[in-house]
Amino acid sequence: MNDDHAPRCDKTEAWAALQGHYEAHGRDLDLREAFARDAGRYDGFAVEAPEVYADLSKNLIDTATLHFLLDLARECRIEPRRDAMLRGDAINTTEDRAVLHTALRAPRGAAPFGEDVHRVLDAMLAYVETVRDTAASGIRHIVNIGIGGSDLGPQMVVPALDAFAHPGLTLHFVSNVDGHDITPVLRRLKPAETLFIIASKTFTTQETMANAHAAKAWFTAAGGSDTAKHFVATTTNVDAAAAFGIKTTFGFWDWVGGRYSLWSAIGLPIALAIGADNFRALLAGAHAMDLHFARAPAAKNLPLLLGLIDVWYRNFHGFTSRSVAPYHQGLKRLPAYLQQLEMESNGKRVDLAGEPLPFATSPVVWGEPGTNGQHAYFQMLHQGTDVIPVEFILVKRSTHALNGLNGPLFEQLDRQHTMLLANGLAQSQALMLGKTTAQAQAEKAPTASKALDPLTLAHHRTFPGNRPSTTLLLEQLTPRSLGALIALYEHRVFTSGALWGINSFDQWGVELGKALCNDLLPRLGSGDATGLDASTAGLMKRLRG
Ligand code: F6P
Repeated sequence: MNDDHAPRCDKTEAWAALQGHYEAHGRDLDLREAFARDAGRYDGFAVEAPEVYADLSKNLIDTATLHFLLDLARECRIEPRRDAMLRGDAINTTEDRAVLHTALRAPRGAAPFGEDVHRVLDAMLAYVETVRDTAASGIRHIVNIGIGGSDLGPQMVVPALDAFAHPGLTLHFVSNVDGHDITPVLRRLKPAETLFIIASKTFTTQETMANAHAAKAWFTAAGGSDTAKHFVATTTNVDAAAAFGIKTTFGFWDWVGGRYSLWSAIGLPIALAIGADNFRALLAGAHAMDLHFARAPAAKNLPLLLGLIDVWYRNFHGFTSRSVAPYHQGLKRLPAYLQQLEMESNGKRVDLAGEPLPFATSPVVWGEPGTNGQHAYFQMLHQGTDVIPVEFILVKRSTHALNGLNGPLFEQLDRQHTMLLANGLAQSQALMLGKTTAQAQAEKAPTASKALDPLTLAHHRTFPGNRPSTTLLLEQLTPRSLGALIALYEHRVFTSGALWGINSFDQWGVELGKALCNDLLPRLGSGDATGLDASTAGLMKRLRG
C-alpha cells in the first residue's frame, strides 16, 4: 500500500535545508581540507554492517550534510515504508503486489509465506544434491536459459563463488535471443551430460522461450532421449512449463521481482554450483543484512546511508552516473547485475501518484573489475570533465587456499592479491588527492615531450582531485559475505527509490519495445511497411534486401 503520509523528498523541509546547505557549503566541500580539519573524519564516517565494512569518509559530505540527509529520511518516512515492505504490504502499487524478496532468505517463521518458501527451498536443495552426485547423475554441464532477472543474478554469483563450486560441473548462461549466444555453448555439450534450466518468472519471455526451443531441438537432434531428466524449469508459471513438456519445476511467487529473484528457485544454478549448505549461507548473509537494514539506527544503517548519499549526489551535485569497481575478478558481472537492479528499479519519471518528477532519478551505473578498469576508463574518472563517484569493493583475503593452491604458485598469487589491494587503495587516494600544477611541474616526466613548454605540459598532468568514492571492504568473498553485499545494494536501491517517491518494483519501460517487436517481427517476413515511420520502414527494407 502507498504510504499517504510520506511526502515526496522535494516537498520536505529537509530538502530545502539541503539545498541551502549545498549552496552554502556542500558544493565547495574539499575532501583534502575536510581531512586536514577533522582528525576523526575517517572513524566518524566508518560504518560496520554484517560482512561489510564501509568507509564513507571520501564522500563529499560532512556532519551537517548527514544531519540534513537523515532529516530527509525521517520526513520521507523511510523506516515505516521499509517496515511496510518487510511485512508484505503491496508497495508495488502499479501491479498491486507485495515485495518480499527478504522473505526468501528469512528463517522459517520469521517472515510472511515461510511455509511456501521453505517447502520449495528444501525440495530444490534436495534435488541439487542428486545432480551434484555426478557419478550417479551423469551431469557435467548445466545451461541456464533465462534473461534479465532470470539470468543476471546467477550469472554474477556463480563466478564470484568459484572457490566453492563443484569441480565436476560447468555452468553456462544463455540469455540473448541472438543464436550466437547459444551456439558456442551447445558445441561443447553432449545431451547425456547436460541439464538445461529454463528460468523465467513468466515463462513467456520471447528470448527465453526461443532459446528453450533451440535447446530442445539440439537435444533431440543430438540423440538425447530423456527430456524429463535433462530439462527443468524455474518459474511462477508452472502450467506453461508443463505445456512445454517439463516435468520438474521449482516455483516462486508474484511477490518476487525478477531482479530480486536470485534467492528463489531462480538461484537453482547457484545452488547446483555451490551446493545446499553454501546456498543456505548465501541466504543467511542476505538475511543478516536485512536485519541490519530493519534494526540499525539510521545514522549507522549502511543501506540507508548509501541511498541518502546517492540522492545527495544525484539531486544536489547533479552527478549523472556512479561507477562500481569491484577489485575481485569473481565479481566481474557485478556491474551488469547492479545495472538491472538499480536502473530497472529506479529509472522512473513519475511519482507514485503518476505525477512527472521535477528532479532526476536513477544514475547510470557502470563499471568493470579492478584493475582492468584502470587501463580503460579510469583516465576519464581522474581527468575528465565529469565528476563520477566511484564505489570500490575490496576483499581482504583471497580464496586461493580454498582451491587447494599451495607452494610457489600460492605465494605468487598471494603477492598478486596484495598488488590488487594496493591498486584499489591507490585509485581512491588518487581520485581524492589529485595533483596540482605545481606538483606536476616539479616532477620528472621521462616520456613527456621536450618540445612543449613545461607549464603547458604540467596542465596536462594536473589532476583536480576531490573526486568522491566509497570503499566497501569484505573480509573474504564467501557465500555469506556475497549474500550480505547483494542485499546491501537491494536496500540501498529501495532507499533512494522511496526518497524519490517512485515505484522501484515495476518495469513498464520495457513493455513498449516488446510490443513493437511483436508488430515488426511478421513485417520483417512479409515486407509490409504500412503505417511505419520512414526510418523504420527504410531500415526494414535494407534488412530484407
Ligand atoms: O526486462 C524485463 C523483465 O521483465 C525483467 O524484469 C525480468 O527480470 C526479465 O524481463 C525476465 O523475465 P522472465 O523471468 O519472466 O523471463
